[in-house]
Amino acid sequence: MKALRVHLARVPERADERRVAQIVIRDAQESDAESIAAIYAHHVLTGTASYDVEPPSVVATRDKIWRITKAGWPFLVAEINGQVAGYAYVTQFRDRPAYRYTAEDSIYVDPDYMRRGVGKALLEALLPSAANYGFRTVIAVVGGAEPASIALHKACGFDEVGQLRRAGFKFGRWLDNVYMQIDLREANET
Ligand SMILES: CC(C)(COP(=O)(O)OP(=O)(O)OC[C@H]1O[C@@H](n2cnc3c(N)ncnc32)[C@H](O)[C@@H]1OP(=O)(O)O)[C@@H](O)C(=O)NCCC(=O)NCCS
Repeated sequence: MKALRVHLARVPERADERRVAQIVIRDAQESDAESIAAIYAHHVLTGTASYDVEPPSVVATRDKIWRITKAGWPFLVAEINGQVAGYAYVTQFRDRPAYRYTAEDSIYVDPDYMRRGVGKALLEALLPSAANYGFRTVIAVVGGAEPASIALHKACGFDEVGQLRRAGFKFGRWLDNVYMQIDLREANET
């Protein structure tokens, strides 16, 4: 069985409380599919970060976890008090072989745990895992130019490198994509 990768960070349980909880970052397992599907479903139904309009089933989510981990790509979950509070993974940016050093990230946090450091803890763990796999660069395709996602990626060292205008249409409006990128070799040197 694959060893768990554990990364600990401390975050306030509530902004107005002084108690802290630990964020545990570990590899996703197929048994996390239900929690991951629920988090993604929320963002599919309420936000523009994902251009899906129908939430995938738990079975499809389990298959995705299996496919990504079988490829050797990192798929991480963040746990707070034993509950999955968010997840992040990378896939190869596009299928064609010349893209083999380029990854795309995906990161989603449970709405009950947003703005408490979960996304940052996930992304900070994901980037070295992607570098360990052999990716040289990671691209974030920020659907709907979501300000929270742009801010999170900036906070983790990504630069904005381009935009696609009116690339998506959801909730009756056109959506721009913002492309952000980090060079993992430069990131490791600093
Ligand atoms: C984007 C997302 C993953 C951020 O996760 P999070 O756990 O809420 O983010 P964190 O608490 O770790 O925030 C880290 C930093 O990102 C920035 N940030 C996060 N949310 C922000 C927001 N709503 N507005 C402005 N800045 C924000 C801040 O710089 C923050 O640091 P600070 O809290 O010390 O100021 C989360 O909002 C989410 O799941 N959004 C919907 C899905 C999505 O957009 N995914 C990205 C797909 S590419």
